[in-house]
Amino acid sequence: MKSEYLLSYENAPVIKTELPGPKSRKILEKQDLLETGSRTYTKQFRMAIKEASGSTIRDVDDNVFIDWFSGICVLNLGHNHPVVKKAMIDQLDRLVHINEIPTETRIEFLETLNSTLPPGLRNHSKTMFTVTGADACEAAISLARHVSRKKTVVVFGGAYHGVAGDIISATANHHYRDLAGIDRGNFYHLPYPYSYRFPLKVREEDISKAVVDQLEYLIKDPYSGPGAIGGVMVEPVQGEGGYIVPPADFLPMLREVTEKYSVPLILDEVQSGVGRTGKIWASEHSHVSPDIMCISKSIGGGIPTSMIVYREEYDRELPGGFHFGTYRGNQLALAAGTAILKYLKETDLLSRVTNKGEYIKKRLNESMELSHRVGEVRGIGFMIGVEMVKDRKSREPDMEFAQMLKTELFKSGLLMHTCGHYSNVLRHMAPLTIEDELIDRGVEIFLEGLRKIS
Ligand SMILES: Cc1ncc(COP(=O)(O)O)c(C=O)c1O
Repeated sequence: MKSEYLLSYENAPVIKTELPGPKSRKILEKQDLLETGSRTYTKQFRMAIKEASGSTIRDVDDNVFIDWFSGICVLNLGHNHPVVKKAMIDQLDRLVHINEIPTETRIEFLETLNSTLPPGLRNHSKTMFTVTGADACEAAISLARHVSRKKTVVVFGGAYHGVAGDIISATANHHYRDLAGIDRGNFYHLPYPYSYRFPLKVREEDISKAVVDQLEYLIKDPYSGPGAIGGVMVEPVQGEGGYIVPPADFLPMLREVTEKYSVPLILDEVQSGVGRTGKIWASEHSHVSPDIMCISKSIGGGIPTSMIVYREEYDRELPGGFHFGTYRGNQLALAAGTAILKYLKETDLLSRVTNKGEYIKKRLNESMELSHRVGEVRGIGFMIGVEMVKDRKSREPDMEFAQMLKTELFKSGLLMHTCGHYSNVLRHMAPLTIEDELIDRGVEIFLEGLRKIS
């Protein structure tokens, strides 16, 4: 990494006050008065933020935290990266918003994005802009249903595709759907090949086959139950479900069977994309090209934006106004997106993510020696999960322990979030640009915290 990009505040973390500090507490009180009580992050990370740089965040009481969070993979180049900032500021001087009418910024983004796409989509696809990750996933399933003329979409246990509209039912955690009072839509969930907790009794090497055989049965047997299958949507590496890397043969097998029956395959790269796994797109690890791909989070450098990219022949079927909306292709986000994709293509950041990711995994693996509460350490690139259990033999999930550890890490100045079916997986999702010393310092805090509460 170039030295001018070493942006984090020095000597992080620095915790000077109890948490929340006195200034933070006042701001949190005001927020409580004015903002919805349905917030979740503010219940877990009790502070108010003043500023952030690189992989560090300063709160209003001058405590400095190491950020292993990246706004849930929204800031893959970290806070205020100069390349992203410059792109946004240059664009701000010219134009912020215009509906669909082309600008040079828009075309440059589309051309740059196209140059990064999996081979089956590169030069053979169209892009449709959307606004959030959920919106992109919603557009993707609508498109799959439209082109296949079939309603049921197969999704997976542990999936998170957002909380909005119809897609809320594709997200596997029924909590969101129950809160919204929405009935289960036209989705059918198969188990994700999560080898640590796979529900079917098969050998580990047969997990992908077990899932894909089941999919084939659903597709080809009219009496299988869920109705005609109009699409399959999957995260190439599962995010909210617990940072789960499927076996290497899973996506290729999924591709094979969806191709065989001409069922559109949708890859949701909202969290795994834009370099997070050490490739620009996580699907590159398995050389699979989807028919539709969902992109969001880090592509906008912090400005909400998203898109789907899909096979160009699908475009012939689309009438004007399909999945329409006002905010499609924000100019600041597109300028940032071009700068970010070029940065990933032109620097050695991705190979750093691969090497450092392996290093972090190895270091976090030291936790297995420290505590029997650590069930598994897994991941790829900078998507690394540490799954907490009551004991290794039973593998019973230990959400309480994971939450206690998260709080302990927060008090020590490390921001780390949880995920997983039982909220029992601590996840490393630091900015890809995080400095070496903040990786080591973070690992030390993690191991110390674990030792303390075990
Ligand atoms: C894989 C995946 N898809 C979709 C979404 C939904 O994105 P958003 O929160 O922007 O609606 C997320 C959010 O975490 C995600 O991880």
